[in-house]
Amino acid sequence: MFEFELSITKALHRDHVATLAMLEKLETDLNRQGASAVPTADDPTWRSLLTGLIAVLEADVKGHFAFEESRLFPTFSEYVDPGIPTMLKEEHEIIRPLAEALLAKAKDALENGFDDASWSAFHAQGLELVEREVFHIQKEEMGFLPALEQILEPEDDAELSMAYSEAGGNV
Ligand SMILES: [Fe+2]
Ligand SMILES: [Fe+2]
Repeated sequence: MFEFELSITKALHRDHVATLAMLEKLETDLNRQGASAVPTADDPTWRSLLTGLIAVLEADVKGHFAFEESRLFPTFSEYVDPGIPTMLKEEHEIIRPLAEALLAKAKDALENGFDDASWSAFHAQGLELVEREVFHIQKEEMGFLPALEQILEPEDDAELSMAYSEAGGNV
């Protein structure tokens, strides 16, 4: 895997690794459970998965995506090329409502459990989120972050890292 040198790219990479681990676990557990076998409301595996999923998705959508869009995509567009940030932002716009729908379902399920309809919807949307977000993160890891490192100066890195930590990121 690419070795990042700057604080801001290292921080975003750590977020990506944590999100990928969560998505991998979600995919494994969704496939193991199946679309038609509704987990019970007190199932400890699902309660812990839903709790972890809520934390990761909230941090992603509110912190990570917003920071990339407000601070990194404009810089990249200005110094390199607007094509890649435009594509990544379009992916955010597909992933964000999917993540928000999943968040609402996960919170409701922790309170009230799943029924047949809510479980099959959660199952399908969960697998769709996994597919889309894993692909998105892979693109950022392989193309966007390495190229971003080439254009940021040390003072940009310091300023962005501070802004990211103030925005709730894990610098
Ligand atoms: Fe992103
Ligand atoms: Fe990202």
